[in-house]
Amino acid sequence: LSSIDVDLTPIQAGQAITAVWRGKPVFVRHRTPEEIKAAESVPLSQLIDPQADKARVKPGHDQWLVVVGICTHLGCVPIGNKPSDNRGEFGGWFCPCHGSQYDTSGRVRHGPAPANLAVPPYAFETDTKIKIG
Ligand code: FES
Repeated sequence: LSSIDVDLTPIQAGQAITAVWRGKPVFVRHRTPEEIKAAESVPLSQLIDPQADKARVKPGHDQWLVVVGICTHLGCVPIGNKPSDNRGEFGGWFCPCHGSQYDTSGRVRHGPAPANLAVPPYAFETDTKIKIG
């Protein structure tokens, strides 16, 4: 399928689910207010791949983060969808292969990964449904 619909209603705040789009894992995360604040308050000068959180979410829907769940180092799938997972020091995802860490915007904060988790093309169809692709 070139595009998929994802129902957001079952995703609790603080959790993410993994959807599959074009054979790739896509993390859809319901961010808490604290996680949004953490993502927005980081100076761009501290980032390996500088990108504002606002540029990675949709206006008016900043509690939702949608990223391709493939580490930009060598392609492992990072862990961190559940609050009980090891999310690394920056509260997002941790890559078990070589230790890269991502923040609550899916931006790389500790290498060896060189780039942020990619944001796929997606759109809100309603407040509780997105179309990826
Ligand atoms: Fe993720 Fe190497 S593949 S750190």
